[in-house]
Amino acid sequence: MILITGGCGYVGSHAVARLLELNQDIVVLDNLSNSSKSVIKQINKISDKKFKFIHGDLNDRTLLISLFKDNKIDTVLHFAGVKSVSESIKFPTKYYLNNVAGTINLLKVMEQNHVFKLIFSSSATVYDPENQIPWKEEFSTDKLKHPYADSKIMIENILKSICNINKKWKIGMLRYFNPIGAHSSGLIGEFNINKNTNLMPNINKTFLGRQNSLYVYGNDFQTKDGTGVRDYIHIEDLISGHLRARDFIQNKNGIFIWNLGAGKGYSVLEIIEKCSTIYGKKINYKIVDRRPGDLGEYWADIRKSEKELNWKPKRNLDRMISDTYKFIIKSKNNLF
Ligand code: NAD
Ligand code: UFG
Repeated sequence: MILITGGCGYVGSHAVARLLELNQDIVVLDNLSNSSKSVIKQINKISDKKFKFIHGDLNDRTLLISLFKDNKIDTVLHFAGVKSVSESIKFPTKYYLNNVAGTINLLKVMEQNHVFKLIFSSSATVYDPENQIPWKEEFSTDKLKHPYADSKIMIENILKSICNINKKWKIGMLRYFNPIGAHSSGLIGEFNINKNTNLMPNINKTFLGRQNSLYVYGNDFQTKDGTGVRDYIHIEDLISGHLRARDFIQNKNGIFIWNLGAGKGYSVLEIIEKCSTIYGKKINYKIVDRRPGDLGEYWADIRKSEKELNWKPKRNLDRMISDTYKFIIKSKNNLF
């Protein structure tokens, strides 16, 4: 059985849907701090296969102990975590308690139950900004950044350390670039758009009239049109990368790092333009000052993932945006 932490969130819900489609037995743990139980209803429309849901927190050790006692867990896909850069600057200890301490708790209970297979959601935010583009897995991650990034770096280091000491661990750390898009059914996607400060949720808020205009954070970067350039990857390609990573670690001890991106960059203006075309409505925007801490451009070198995982992102930008549109139209009453 696979334990999916954070399985009601944006990325985790797509993993749940895919694993159910593959007829896998899963149990989901989520404290619903950034998601809703309604996501489970949506997943149940995608697959007839049922799964267990446990409403609880990673930091509840007693709950984790009974979860592992009651379910024969073999592998953990660990998505649960808080992820807002700006919130992490306001409340740094929240990020260390939730992400770092929560993960340590999970590792402790895994160890006690002899469960050593783990796929962890890391982020491109761990890379030091001065690394040459495209970013490769072996590039440096030494610098302190903001508490969100630092929490991911700390977890990566803890995972490296436990693997160094106990050779039974089989761990895949996946560094996501910018996942966007939605399930091809339009039934699940990024539901929590109100509090979210990422580009696509803000475009969707503008499209739905929840805000008058999108703010574009700076047009004076050294990039093709002056706006920020990022590596956007379709959420379903991101999930297929997880499944390949899960298969890879089955028979290999140790720790492995893979980038999950598309390997190329699009600017904010290119994304807005594409959304205006596919959504059939102009997305109004205003250029404002840079957002503190934002980098001009970066994208992933995905050759290691392609080679070792035999994985390739298949869905292009049109598909990312058209699946988002399908989701927004179909699920607009469920967005929060
Ligand atoms: P999300 O907020 O949509 O999902 C995270 C889920 O974890 C939520 O359902 C939340 O309720 C749950 N959760 C949080 N803390 C928990 C805890 N202590 N105990 C139990 N449940 C808890 O976020 P997401 O976009 O799905 O991201 C998933 C993971 O991927 C996170 O670890 C995030 O840092 C990482 N990541 C995301 C992105 C991105 O752009 N979405 C990029 C890089 C890395
Ligand atoms: N942007 C805008 N307006 C908005 C929101 C974003 O112009 O309203 C711009 C940003 O300045 C940036 C680009 O759109 O140039 C993408 O910004 P996002 O906030 O969508 O994503 P980031 O690249 O800043 O960060 C995301 C996740 C991080 C993760 C990182 C990894 O939010 O958690 O990708 O690459 F670490």
